[in-house]
Amino acid sequence: MSRSLLFVPADSERKLEKAAGVGADALILDLEDAVVPDARPAARRLAAEYLKGRDNVWVRVNPVDTEDCEADLEAVMASEPAGIILPKPRHARDAVKLSERIDVLENHHGIEHGQTRIIALCTEHPEALLTLHSYVGTVPRLAGLSWGAEDLSAAVGATANRSTKGEWLPPYEMARSMCLFAAAAAEVAAIDTVFTDFRDDKGLLRYAANARRDGFSGMLAIHPDQVEPINAAFSPSAEEIEHAQRIVELFEQNPGVGTVGLKGKMIDRPHLVQARRLLQQARRN
Ligand code: COA
Ligand code: MG
Repeated sequence: MSRSLLFVPADSERKLEKAAGVGADALILDLEDAVVPDARPAARRLAAEYLKGRDNVWVRVNPVDTEDCEADLEAVMASEPAGIILPKPRHARDAVKLSERIDVLENHHGIEHGQTRIIALCTEHPEALLTLHSYVGTVPRLAGLSWGAEDLSAAVGATANRSTKGEWLPPYEMARSMCLFAAAAAEVAAIDTVFTDFRDDKGLLRYAANARRDGFSGMLAIHPDQVEPINAAFSPSAEEIEHAQRIVELFEQNPGVGTVGLKGKMIDRPHLVQARRLLQQARRN
């Protein structure tokens, strides 16, 4: 899964042009909140054109069950996006509905069934937080879960979602954790949300490092300057890779042994799982 996923408002030819060269693992052409309704028809045409022949370009459509969502899908599916980002689902049922709509369009355009993946922004609606288990085993196209605090805090009537120091307040920290656990339960990638203060490089590096520490495999970006720090933060270091290799080797050299010692620390099965996962991540980058 991608380390950096850069949002690009699909109505901006300038940003679309710029986005191709900034080194993001994936781009998300936005047709939802970053584009005003009047600009959507033109943005759909730009997105459809941009997608042609490019890999790892996703589209954020409007919420399922809206006319805008239908028009978004109609416009972009022929150009074979890597996947669709689903905003504001209340339940995995909304992802299933989207998936069924994609089935029809894949079939219509001669696209391989299942090729188009889905990432759901699974905490934007309060009801969604209470139904996160619904993603387990229900949406074969699901590639990841990500989360957002802005729509959620607006929905509950909060006056802020971050502390004056910029840290998530407890309700949103909980939403973030729940997204992480839901993604693990559904066996898909957990993708941390945007860091909106795009001039704060140090803050971003800290945030992204914590996100990887916690188990997220990547993060959403909103500005080209955020891509490089995010890619760096989600790439395992040489020491981490070496340590992980050592753990894997130790277990290979000691078959039938459940626990071993390494540098004075007990290492058992969860460490092996972690080590293998890290090596897999390192191979992918
Ligand atoms: N993708 C591609 N290019 C982008 C970009 C993005 N997300 N954000 C900025 N750029 C480009 C700008 O066009 C500018 O290019 P230029 O010098 O050729 O004109 C350059 O990067 C520097 O941009 P900067 O002036 O620092 O920022 P800005 O004030 O133009 O834009 C934002 C700030 C937040 C409006 C802009 O980054 C943006 O639109 N981000 C995405 C927002 C979004 O999609 N939100 C929805 C999900 S939360
Ligand atoms: Mg939003």
